[in-house]
Amino acid sequence: MKDLSAQQAARLDELMSQLTWAEKLNQIQVTYKTSLDECEDAARGGIGALFWPGDAASTNAVQRAAVEESAHGIPLLIGLDVIHGQRTIFPIPLALAASFDPEIARLCARTSAAEARSGGVNWTYSPMIDVSRDARWGRVAEGFGEDPLLSAAMGAAMIRGYQETAEGRRFGEGTLAACAKHFVAYGACEGGRDYNGADMSASRLREVYLPPFRAAVEAGAATVMASFNTLNGVPMHANRALLDGVLKEEWGFQGFIVGDASGVENLVPHGVARDLAEAARLSIGAGLDMEMGGHLYSESGPLLEADDPALVARVDDACRRVLATKLALGLFENPYVPENEEHLVPSPEHLALARKIAERCPVLLTNDGILPLGPRAGERILLIGPAAATRDHLGAWVQRFGAEPEHDLAHALRSAMPEARIDVLDGCSPIDPSPELLEEARQAIPDYDLVILALTEPSDLTGEASSRADLRLPGDQEELVRIACASGAPVVVVLMNGRPLDISAWIDLPNAVLEAWHLGSTGPEVIADILSGAVAPTGRLPMAFPRSVGQLPAIHHAHENTGRPATRGGSIQPKTFDVGLEGPANIQEFFTSKYRDLELGPLFEFGHGLGYSPIEVRSIELDSATVSRSALDEGLRVRIRVENTGSTDVEHALLLYVRDPLASVARPVKSLVAFDRVHVPAGTLIQVEVRIDAASLSFWSELEGGPVLEGGDFELHADGPNGPAITRFSLVADDSKEDA
Ligand code: BGC
Repeated sequence: MKDLSAQQAARLDELMSQLTWAEKLNQIQVTYKTSLDECEDAARGGIGALFWPGDAASTNAVQRAAVEESAHGIPLLIGLDVIHGQRTIFPIPLALAASFDPEIARLCARTSAAEARSGGVNWTYSPMIDVSRDARWGRVAEGFGEDPLLSAAMGAAMIRGYQETAEGRRFGEGTLAACAKHFVAYGACEGGRDYNGADMSASRLREVYLPPFRAAVEAGAATVMASFNTLNGVPMHANRALLDGVLKEEWGFQGFIVGDASGVENLVPHGVARDLAEAARLSIGAGLDMEMGGHLYSESGPLLEADDPALVARVDDACRRVLATKLALGLFENPYVPENEEHLVPSPEHLALARKIAERCPVLLTNDGILPLGPRAGERILLIGPAAATRDHLGAWVQRFGAEPEHDLAHALRSAMPEARIDVLDGCSPIDPSPELLEEARQAIPDYDLVILALTEPSDLTGEASSRADLRLPGDQEELVRIACASGAPVVVVLMNGRPLDISAWIDLPNAVLEAWHLGSTGPEVIADILSGAVAPTGRLPMAFPRSVGQLPAIHHAHENTGRPATRGGSIQPKTFDVGLEGPANIQEFFTSKYRDLELGPLFEFGHGLGYSPIEVRSIELDSATVSRSALDEGLRVRIRVENTGSTDVEHALLLYVRDPLASVARPVKSLVAFDRVHVPAGTLIQVEVRIDAASLSFWSELEGGPVLEGGDFELHADGPNGPAITRFSLVADDSKEDA
């Protein structure tokens, strides 16, 4: 492993020569124990890794059992799902992605690592970099949305944040080993149903699902977790071609691959292993290095016999990888943490950082000009809805002790708008039918100058095993929107949720809709600041919002065109012609790719997001309209001019797309190739420079079994509110195989 000093490498060799077969098997598993006694017993027995026992003192006790009482004194990896914060909770990863700002992802990870490591955790099962284009999948909350480039950048930034100190020292003080998960294609589960299989072409896999993992390996991720799904029929925990073939052989991954919880024993119900012993053999043979959950590697009889030379070599390799990670983390020198320095509550500095980060994540979906609200002195405002007085802002995957906001939105709004008179009502339950509350709302609303609807998809409806088939707001919340909007009072909606929702039934009714996601410990203050205008919304959607669940997952921006692209969809009409008589000329009228009962495209596409100040993308320029291959080697320089025509400074996430209109295979209608979050001072025009490389213009060829860069014309475009700025160039290149 490249992280090790000569001395550490020698220590590794020495340990490997001392460990027995059973001891090696014991090192390559991580288990969860419910009591401290059990943890200490397992540590004494030489287990390789445990889930965090809950605080610094317990963790030290467990490490002591491993270091001082086990046969070889090997310290433990102590793992935990530190996903978007430990004590201080940051926005869910999907919300972080809306910032298009990898630096905030790095800071979130850096801070979470410091808090978690102070309690003895040294390994986090994060980041989740599963691209997903299906909002039914509850785990979209944990990832960075539909785009591979964005997911790769955010994931790599988090890995650096977990693994490097503020000064960039890998595995220095207050760092954790990261785990890029879940390898691979888990986000493509059929029907958006968690744990379901995925089936796809090699080009889809190579272009969409693998790139974030490659970026994670390049960013130095210490570990990778295998996913629960099958891919083209092969469960990932037994997928040799991908675990061993792609991850280790092709990409040179030197860390270790851990299974997901019980993922090895799940090979039995998958129907590819006869029993647990066979499951263990299959997975370790495929390249898995550590099993999570159930003692399979150490307790399976056939493995213990050590009779298969290939398996023996694999166990050796797995054990070396696990020990090398412990050495690189410095656990042999520093197995303990100072108990009096454990972060138990978020510090004011961490909360301030969480707030700054959360400010970048909300996405303004619609606004007729009502937002920002301003002071509204003397006005009567009704804050109504199940999220008005809730403190459920943390989102999926937080530990029980993760800091909930100190106050609710009602309190935050009153502080942000002290001159307004703000009353609060529940309006309805977030889940159950609530006719009395709705009636109360109906009576109350007409008395107010303004209604703010605080609506929610509760955190526990998002995350793992929380797929939903109906993506509307749960309970009576849609009815509450209708009641409020029928009252004649101006209405602003705030959504707190963990995935794109189906809000098409009512989106046109309110005056403005703010997508606030689950923003973490400082959610209420940030929402109040955006509503009042103290902070401007700058987020852009990392994942499209559907018009209907029936469209999913085919609403992502990088879809291919069909041979029959539609120009309109929509209302169901009886056929007015007989194709048999009128023939193929009618293709553009009827035989086009659309739903007859739905408008074309998503309700809000990837990248959508309004601000409070007008931003225009004026032009995209290249040095030349003809680009040579060698220019790509250095990165093609693209200059984008952006103008802020308003009177306040703006932060803007600039997105640059490419389209290859003519190639030997059908290419996406647009693919994100670069993004940058830029500061544009009021009334100024700035020029931003980004670079795009050969890989951005290449595609994976099934025929060639590799990336191909074809010459020809390309289009670049960047979206502005008044349409995209576009430029074209020709790539002068022979068809050639590229190492993309
Ligand atoms: C999840 C993983 C998680 C693991 C350990 C599994 O159920 O799929 O993402 O890291 O549990 O908690």
